[in-house]
Amino acid sequence: MLDESKFDVDLNLWALRIPCQLCKAATRILNGYLLDKPRIKPITEDPTCQKNRYVILSDRVQSHDLSEISPQKLDELKKLCEVQVIPYSLTLGYSYWSADHVLKQILPPGVEVPSSFETIGQIAHLNIHDELLPYKDVIAKVIYDKNYPRIKTVVNKVGAIANEFRVPKFEILAGERDMVTEVKQYGAIFKLDYSLVYWNSRLEHEHIRLVSQFQRGEIICDMFAGIGPFAIPAAQKGCIVYANDLNPDSIRYLKINAKINKVDDCICAYNMDARKFISQLMEAPVCENNAECNVSMLKACEDCSVQDNEESRIENTRLGVEAEEAHASVSGNVEDAQDLYKNIHTFAAATKRPSDCCLQENGSINGAGATDVSRRKGRH
Ligand SMILES: C[S@@+](CC[C@H](N)C(=O)[O-])C[C@H]1O[C@@H](n2cnc3c(N)ncnc32)[C@H](O)[C@@H]1O
Repeated sequence: MLDESKFDVDLNLWALRIPCQLCKAATRILNGYLLDKPRIKPITEDPTCQKNRYVILSDRVQSHDLSEISPQKLDELKKLCEVQVIPYSLTLGYSYWSADHVLKQILPPGVEVPSSFETIGQIAHLNIHDELLPYKDVIAKVIYDKNYPRIKTVVNKVGAIANEFRVPKFEILAGERDMVTEVKQYGAIFKLDYSLVYWNSRLEHEHIRLVSQFQRGEIICDMFAGIGPFAIPAAQKGCIVYANDLNPDSIRYLKINAKINKVDDCICAYNMDARKFISQLMEAPVCENNAECNVSMLKACEDCSVQDNEESRIENTRLGVEAEEAHASVSGNVEDAQDLYKNIHTFAAATKRPSDCCLQENGSINGAGATDVSRRKGRH
Protein backbone atom coordinates (compact mmCIF):
# COMPACT_ATOMS: atom_id res chain seq x y z
CA MET A 1 0.00 0.00 0.00
CA LEU A 2 2.76 2.40 0.93
CA ASP A 3 6.10 1.97 -0.80
CA GLU A 4 8.42 3.12 1.96
CA SER A 5 11.48 3.07 -0.31
CA LYS A 6 10.01 6.03 -2.21
CA PHE A 7 10.98 8.27 0.68
CA ASP A 8 14.68 7.33 0.58
CA VAL A 9 17.04 10.23 0.13
CA ASP A 10 20.70 9.33 -0.50
CA LEU A 11 23.31 11.73 0.76
CA ASN A 12 26.90 11.54 -0.45
CA LEU A 13 29.00 13.08 2.28
CA TRP A 14 32.53 13.19 3.56
CA ALA A 15 33.70 11.84 6.89
CA LEU A 16 37.00 12.12 8.79
CA ARG A 17 38.59 9.09 10.34
CA ILE A 18 39.67 10.22 13.81
CA PRO A 19 41.10 8.24 16.77
CA CYS A 20 38.38 7.71 19.39
CA GLN A 21 40.12 9.70 22.14
CA LEU A 22 40.42 12.78 19.86
CA CYS A 23 36.83 12.84 18.60
CA LYS A 24 35.64 15.31 21.22
CA ALA A 25 38.40 17.79 20.39
CA ALA A 26 37.86 17.30 16.63
CA THR A 27 34.12 17.98 16.86
CA ARG A 28 34.84 21.14 18.85
CA ILE A 29 37.15 22.39 16.10
CA LEU A 30 34.67 21.39 13.37
CA ASN A 31 31.71 23.11 15.01
CA GLY A 32 29.49 24.40 12.16
CA TYR A 33 30.82 21.85 9.64
CA LEU A 34 29.37 18.67 11.15
CA LEU A 35 26.37 16.70 9.89
CA ASP A 36 23.34 18.51 11.27
CA LYS A 37 20.28 16.29 10.87
CA PRO A 38 17.72 15.71 13.62
CA ARG A 39 18.12 12.34 15.37
CA ILE A 40 21.37 11.47 13.53
CA LYS A 41 24.65 11.64 15.43
CA PRO A 42 27.61 13.07 13.50
CA ILE A 43 29.99 10.56 15.10
CA THR A 44 29.68 6.93 14.14
CA GLU A 45 31.68 3.70 14.12
CA ASP A 46 34.59 3.08 11.81
CA PRO A 47 33.72 -0.36 10.35
CA THR A 48 37.41 -1.06 9.70
CA CYS A 49 38.90 -0.25 13.11
CA GLN A 50 37.49 -0.06 16.62
CA LYS A 51 40.09 2.48 17.72
CA ASN A 52 38.73 5.10 15.32
CA ARG A 53 35.46 6.84 14.69
CA TYR A 54 33.98 8.55 11.65
CA VAL A 55 33.21 12.21 12.17
CA ILE A 56 30.59 12.94 9.49
CA LEU A 57 30.72 16.35 7.84
CA SER A 58 27.83 18.50 6.77
CA ASP A 59 26.62 18.44 3.14
CA ARG A 60 28.04 21.99 2.96
CA VAL A 61 31.44 20.32 2.66
CA GLN A 62 31.45 19.12 -0.94
CA SER A 63 35.14 18.68 -1.78
CA HIS A 64 37.61 16.01 -0.85
CA ASP A 65 40.19 18.70 0.01
CA LEU A 66 37.76 20.18 2.58
CA SER A 67 38.17 23.62 0.97
CA GLU A 68 34.79 24.73 2.39
CA ILE A 69 36.27 24.56 5.92
CA SER A 70 38.19 27.67 7.02
CA PRO A 71 42.02 27.28 6.69
CA GLN A 72 42.42 28.23 10.35
CA LYS A 73 40.22 25.31 11.48
CA LEU A 74 41.90 22.93 9.09
CA ASP A 75 45.31 23.87 10.53
CA GLU A 76 44.00 23.28 14.04
CA LEU A 77 42.68 19.88 12.98
CA LYS A 78 45.94 18.89 11.30
CA LYS A 79 47.80 19.77 14.52
CA LEU A 80 45.43 17.48 16.44
CA CYS A 81 45.87 14.40 14.24
CA GLU A 82 46.49 13.05 10.78
CA VAL A 83 43.39 13.90 8.74
CA GLN A 84 41.99 11.05 6.64
CA VAL A 85 39.03 12.03 4.45
CA ILE A 86 36.74 9.26 3.28
CA PRO A 87 33.47 9.23 1.31
CA TYR A 88 30.41 8.50 3.41
CA SER A 89 26.96 7.54 2.04
CA LEU A 90 23.89 8.03 4.16
CA THR A 91 20.31 7.12 3.27
CA LEU A 92 17.49 8.96 5.03
CA GLY A 93 14.60 6.53 4.77
CA TYR A 94 10.90 6.39 5.66
CA SER A 95 11.65 5.88 9.35
CA TYR A 96 13.68 9.10 9.42
CA TRP A 97 11.09 11.48 8.04
CA SER A 98 8.31 13.09 10.09
CA ALA A 99 4.62 12.30 9.45
CA ASP A 100 4.22 15.80 8.04
CA HIS A 101 7.07 15.33 5.54
CA VAL A 102 5.78 11.91 4.39
CA LEU A 103 2.15 13.00 4.10
CA LYS A 104 3.09 16.12 2.14
CA GLN A 105 4.63 13.83 -0.48
CA ILE A 106 1.63 11.51 -0.62
CA LEU A 107 -1.27 13.95 -0.57
CA PRO A 108 -2.31 16.25 -3.41
CA PRO A 109 -0.59 19.64 -3.36
CA GLY A 110 -2.42 22.41 -1.55
CA VAL A 111 -4.42 20.23 0.86
CA GLU A 112 -4.10 20.66 4.61
CA VAL A 113 -1.90 17.83 5.90
CA PRO A 114 -3.65 16.06 8.79
CA SER A 115 -0.53 15.22 10.80
CA SER A 116 -1.94 16.48 14.11
CA PHE A 117 -4.67 14.69 16.01
CA GLU A 118 -6.40 14.49 19.36
CA THR A 119 -4.88 11.94 21.71
CA ILE A 120 -6.99 9.89 24.10
CA GLY A 121 -4.60 7.64 25.98
CA GLN A 122 -3.12 5.41 23.27
CA ILE A 123 -5.77 6.36 20.69
CA ALA A 124 -5.21 8.95 17.96
CA HIS A 125 -8.50 10.53 16.92
CA LEU A 126 -8.52 12.01 13.41
CA ASN A 127 -11.21 14.06 11.73
CA ILE A 128 -10.33 13.46 8.09
CA HIS A 129 -11.99 15.92 5.72
CA ASP A 130 -14.11 14.55 2.87
CA GLU A 131 -11.54 15.50 0.24
CA LEU A 132 -8.91 13.35 1.99
CA LEU A 133 -11.11 10.29 2.64
CA PRO A 134 -9.60 8.40 -0.32
CA TYR A 135 -6.27 8.66 1.52
CA LYS A 136 -7.58 7.78 4.99
CA ASP A 137 -5.80 4.41 5.27
CA VAL A 138 -2.43 5.73 4.26
CA ILE A 139 -2.83 8.77 6.52
CA ALA A 140 -3.65 6.48 9.45
CA LYS A 141 -0.71 4.18 8.68
CA VAL A 142 1.75 7.07 8.62
CA ILE A 143 0.38 8.51 11.86
CA TYR A 144 0.50 5.07 13.46
CA ASP A 145 4.07 4.35 12.27
CA LYS A 146 5.35 7.73 13.36
CA ASN A 147 3.76 7.69 16.80
CA TYR A 148 3.99 4.03 17.84
CA PRO A 149 4.23 2.88 20.68
CA ARG A 150 2.71 6.05 22.21
CA ILE A 151 -0.23 5.54 19.82
CA LYS A 152 -1.59 2.02 19.40
CA THR A 153 -4.88 2.72 17.59
CA VAL A 154 -5.81 5.31 14.96
CA VAL A 155 -9.50 6.13 14.51
CA ASN A 156 -11.48 8.48 12.34
CA LYS A 157 -14.79 10.04 13.28
CA VAL A 158 -17.57 9.02 10.91
CA GLY A 159 -20.44 11.46 10.44
CA ALA A 160 -21.92 13.81 13.00
CA ILE A 161 -22.81 12.84 16.55
CA ALA A 162 -26.45 11.89 16.51
CA ASN A 163 -27.03 10.01 19.77
CA GLU A 164 -27.96 11.37 23.16
CA PHE A 165 -24.88 9.83 24.79
CA ARG A 166 -22.77 12.22 22.69
CA VAL A 167 -20.56 9.34 21.49
CA PRO A 168 -19.30 9.71 17.92
CA LYS A 169 -19.11 6.76 15.55
CA PHE A 170 -15.55 5.77 14.76
CA GLU A 171 -13.85 3.62 12.19
CA ILE A 172 -10.59 2.04 13.26
CA LEU A 173 -8.04 2.69 10.54
CA ALA A 174 -4.79 1.38 12.00
CA GLY A 175 -3.45 -0.56 14.97
CA GLU A 176 -5.24 -2.47 17.69
CA ARG A 177 -8.99 -2.74 17.40
CA ASP A 178 -9.50 -2.22 21.12
CA MET A 179 -10.72 1.26 22.09
CA VAL A 180 -10.36 0.82 25.83
CA THR A 181 -7.70 3.18 27.06
CA GLU A 182 -6.58 5.23 30.06
CA VAL A 183 -6.23 8.98 30.33
CA LYS A 184 -4.60 11.00 33.08
CA GLN A 185 -5.94 14.35 34.14
CA TYR A 186 -4.66 16.36 37.14
CA GLY A 187 -3.34 13.20 38.82
CA ALA A 188 -6.52 11.16 38.37
CA ILE A 189 -6.72 8.14 36.07
CA PHE A 190 -9.73 7.66 33.80
CA LYS A 191 -10.33 4.34 32.13
CA LEU A 192 -12.79 4.42 29.25
CA ASP A 193 -13.94 2.73 26.10
CA TYR A 194 -13.78 5.54 23.57
CA SER A 195 -16.29 3.77 21.33
CA LEU A 196 -18.92 3.67 24.09
CA VAL A 197 -18.66 6.77 26.26
CA TYR A 198 -18.25 10.52 25.90
CA TRP A 199 -14.75 11.87 26.42
CA ASN A 200 -13.16 15.13 25.38
CA SER A 201 -9.57 15.72 26.47
CA ARG A 202 -9.87 19.37 25.51
CA LEU A 203 -12.24 19.93 28.45
CA GLU A 204 -9.42 19.38 30.96
CA HIS A 205 -9.17 23.07 31.82
CA GLU A 206 -12.90 23.31 32.33
CA HIS A 207 -12.80 20.28 34.60
CA ILE A 208 -9.99 21.85 36.63
CA ARG A 209 -11.63 25.27 36.67
CA LEU A 210 -14.91 24.01 38.03
CA VAL A 211 -13.47 21.57 40.56
CA SER A 212 -11.15 24.30 41.88
CA GLN A 213 -14.29 26.08 43.09
CA PHE A 214 -15.43 23.13 45.20
CA GLN A 215 -14.57 22.98 48.88
CA ARG A 216 -13.91 19.90 50.94
CA GLY A 217 -17.15 18.59 52.47
CA GLU A 218 -19.41 20.10 49.84
CA ILE A 219 -22.06 18.02 48.16
CA ILE A 220 -21.74 17.91 44.39
CA CYS A 221 -24.52 16.70 42.14
CA ASP A 222 -23.37 15.98 38.61
CA MET A 223 -26.35 15.29 36.38
CA PHE A 224 -24.34 14.54 33.21
CA ALA A 225 -21.30 12.97 34.83
CA GLY A 226 -19.93 10.88 31.96
CA ILE A 227 -17.07 8.74 33.24
CA GLY A 228 -16.35 11.19 36.05
CA PRO A 229 -13.99 14.02 35.04
CA PHE A 230 -15.74 16.32 37.52
CA ALA A 231 -16.93 13.68 39.97
CA ILE A 232 -13.59 11.92 40.56
CA PRO A 233 -11.47 15.02 41.31
CA ALA A 234 -14.30 16.48 43.38
CA ALA A 235 -14.34 13.31 45.48
CA GLN A 236 -10.54 13.41 45.69
CA LYS A 237 -10.91 16.90 47.11
CA GLY A 238 -13.13 15.54 49.88
CA CYS A 239 -16.55 16.33 48.39
CA ILE A 240 -19.47 13.93 48.48
CA VAL A 241 -20.59 13.39 44.91
CA TYR A 242 -23.90 12.30 43.46
CA ALA A 243 -23.07 11.47 39.86
CA ASN A 244 -25.57 10.53 37.20
CA ASP A 245 -25.51 9.73 33.50
CA LEU A 246 -28.01 8.24 31.11
CA ASN A 247 -25.37 6.13 29.38
CA PRO A 248 -24.98 2.82 31.28
CA ASP A 249 -21.45 2.41 29.94
CA SER A 250 -20.47 5.82 31.30
CA ILE A 251 -21.73 4.85 34.72
CA ARG A 252 -19.94 1.50 34.49
CA TYR A 253 -16.68 3.34 33.81
CA LEU A 254 -17.45 5.99 36.41
CA LYS A 255 -17.62 3.22 39.01
CA ILE A 256 -14.42 1.64 37.69
CA ASN A 257 -12.71 5.02 37.87
CA ALA A 258 -14.01 5.69 41.36
CA LYS A 259 -12.35 2.43 42.42
CA ILE A 260 -9.11 3.05 40.51
CA ASN A 261 -8.79 6.46 42.15
CA LYS A 262 -9.85 5.13 45.55
CA VAL A 263 -12.83 7.44 45.98
CA ASP A 264 -15.60 4.87 45.61
CA ASP A 265 -16.81 5.58 49.14
CA CYS A 266 -17.46 9.23 48.26
CA ILE A 267 -19.27 8.84 44.94
CA CYS A 268 -22.82 7.68 44.51
CA ALA A 269 -23.47 6.70 40.91
CA TYR A 270 -26.84 6.74 39.15
CA ASN A 271 -27.93 5.72 35.69
CA MET A 272 -31.07 7.62 34.78
CA ASP A 273 -32.43 10.63 33.00
CA ALA A 274 -31.05 13.81 34.57
CA ARG A 275 -34.54 15.23 35.07
CA LYS A 276 -35.55 12.25 37.14
CA PHE A 277 -32.24 12.26 38.98
CA ILE A 278 -32.34 15.86 40.10
CA SER A 279 -36.02 15.94 40.91
CA GLN A 280 -35.82 12.83 43.04
CA LEU A 281 -32.66 14.04 44.67
CA MET A 282 -34.41 17.24 45.72
CA GLU A 283 -37.72 15.61 46.66
CA ALA A 284 -36.75 12.50 48.59
CA PRO A 285 -38.22 12.46 52.12
CA VAL A 286 -36.01 13.34 55.06
CA CYS A 287 -34.50 10.39 56.81
CA GLU A 288 -34.76 10.92 60.56
CA ASN A 289 -33.17 7.70 61.53
CA ASN A 290 -29.56 7.43 60.49
CA ALA A 291 -29.42 3.78 61.40
CA GLU A 292 -31.78 3.04 58.55
CA CYS A 293 -29.37 4.62 56.16
CA ASN A 294 -26.40 2.53 57.14
CA VAL A 295 -25.19 1.46 53.74
CA SER A 296 -22.21 2.45 51.71
CA MET A 297 -23.39 5.20 49.41
CA LEU A 298 -21.89 3.79 46.28
CA LYS A 299 -23.18 0.33 47.06
CA ALA A 300 -26.61 1.67 47.87
CA CYS A 301 -26.68 3.49 44.58
CA GLU A 302 -25.56 0.61 42.43
CA ASP A 303 -28.51 -0.98 40.69
CA CYS A 304 -30.92 1.25 42.58
CA SER A 305 -33.89 2.21 40.49
CA VAL A 306 -35.30 5.37 41.98
CA GLN A 307 -39.06 5.64 41.85
CA ASP A 308 -40.39 7.87 39.15
CA ASN A 309 -43.46 9.95 39.85
CA GLU A 310 -45.47 12.83 38.51
CA GLU A 311 -44.52 15.23 41.31
CA SER A 312 -40.89 14.81 40.50
CA ARG A 313 -41.64 15.74 36.91
CA ILE A 314 -43.26 18.96 38.11
CA GLU A 315 -40.31 19.66 40.38
CA ASN A 316 -38.06 18.91 37.46
CA THR A 317 -39.69 21.62 35.40
CA ARG A 318 -39.33 24.04 38.31
CA LEU A 319 -35.62 23.37 38.42
CA GLY A 320 -35.39 23.99 34.71
CA VAL A 321 -33.45 20.83 33.98
CA GLU A 322 -33.77 20.93 30.26
CA ALA A 323 -30.46 20.94 28.52
CA GLU A 324 -29.22 17.54 27.62
CA GLU A 325 -25.69 18.62 27.00
CA ALA A 326 -25.22 21.25 29.64
CA HIS A 327 -23.11 20.14 32.51
CA ALA A 328 -24.74 21.17 35.77
CA SER A 329 -23.29 20.90 39.20
CA VAL A 330 -25.17 21.89 42.32
CA SER A 331 -22.83 22.63 45.12
CA GLY A 332 -23.07 24.28 48.47
CA ASN A 333 -21.47 23.95 51.86
CA VAL A 334 -22.86 21.37 54.20
CA GLU A 335 -23.97 23.80 56.92
CA ASP A 336 -25.98 25.88 54.48
CA ALA A 337 -27.41 22.84 52.82
CA GLN A 338 -28.11 20.63 55.78
CA ASP A 339 -31.66 19.96 54.65
CA LEU A 340 -30.50 19.01 51.22
CA TYR A 341 -27.90 16.81 52.80
CA LYS A 342 -30.56 15.09 54.91
CA ASN A 343 -32.58 14.58 51.79
CA ILE A 344 -29.66 13.18 49.93
CA HIS A 345 -28.73 11.00 52.84
CA THR A 346 -32.26 9.66 52.84
CA PHE A 347 -32.32 9.41 49.10
CA ALA A 348 -29.66 6.76 49.12
CA ALA A 349 -31.58 4.76 51.68
CA ALA A 350 -34.99 5.34 50.17
CA THR A 351 -34.06 4.06 46.78
CA LYS A 352 -35.02 0.43 46.45
CA ARG A 353 -34.27 -1.20 49.77
CA PRO A 354 -30.69 -0.31 50.64
CA SER A 355 -30.07 -3.54 52.42
CA ASP A 356 -31.36 -5.37 49.36
CA CYS A 357 -28.96 -3.42 47.21
CA CYS A 358 -26.05 -4.40 49.35
CA LEU A 359 -27.16 -7.96 49.61
CA GLN A 360 -27.20 -8.09 45.83
CA GLU A 361 -23.72 -6.67 45.80
CA ASN A 362 -21.85 -8.75 48.31
CA GLY A 363 -24.30 -10.76 50.34
CA SER A 364 -24.06 -8.64 53.46
CA ILE A 365 -25.01 -5.18 54.60
CA ASN A 366 -22.04 -2.90 54.44
CA GLY A 367 -22.13 -0.76 57.57
CA ALA A 368 -18.78 0.91 56.99
CA GLY A 369 -20.03 3.20 54.28
CA ALA A 370 -22.91 4.36 56.39
CA THR A 371 -20.61 5.07 59.26
CA ASP A 372 -18.53 7.08 56.88
CA VAL A 373 -21.52 9.09 55.82
CA SER A 374 -22.53 9.77 59.42
CA ARG A 375 -19.03 10.70 60.36
CA ARG A 376 -18.78 13.10 57.49
CA LYS A 377 -22.05 14.60 58.48
CA GLY A 378 -20.96 14.96 62.09
CA ARG A 379 -17.71 16.56 61.13
CA HIS A 380 -19.39 19.58 59.62
C1 LIG B 1 -21.21 16.42 26.81
S1 LIG B 1 -21.20 14.94 27.76
C2 LIG B 1 -20.38 15.48 29.25
C3 LIG B 1 -19.91 14.37 30.15
C4 LIG B 1 -18.97 14.79 31.28
N1 LIG B 1 -19.54 15.83 32.08
C5 LIG B 1 -17.63 15.19 30.73
O1 LIG B 1 -17.23 16.35 30.90
O2 LIG B 1 -16.93 14.35 30.16
C6 LIG B 1 -22.88 14.84 28.19
C7 LIG B 1 -23.23 13.60 28.99
O3 LIG B 1 -24.60 13.68 29.30
C8 LIG B 1 -25.18 12.40 29.19
N2 LIG B 1 -26.63 12.61 28.94
C9 LIG B 1 -27.25 12.96 27.80
N3 LIG B 1 -28.56 13.08 27.99
C10 LIG B 1 -28.79 12.81 29.30
C11 LIG B 1 -29.93 12.80 30.11
N4 LIG B 1 -31.14 13.08 29.62
N5 LIG B 1 -29.79 12.49 31.41
C12 LIG B 1 -28.58 12.20 31.93
N6 LIG B 1 -27.45 12.20 31.20
C13 LIG B 1 -27.55 12.50 29.91
C14 LIG B 1 -24.44 11.74 28.05
O4 LIG B 1 -24.51 10.33 28.13
C15 LIG B 1 -23.03 12.30 28.25
O5 LIG B 1 -22.23 11.43 29.02
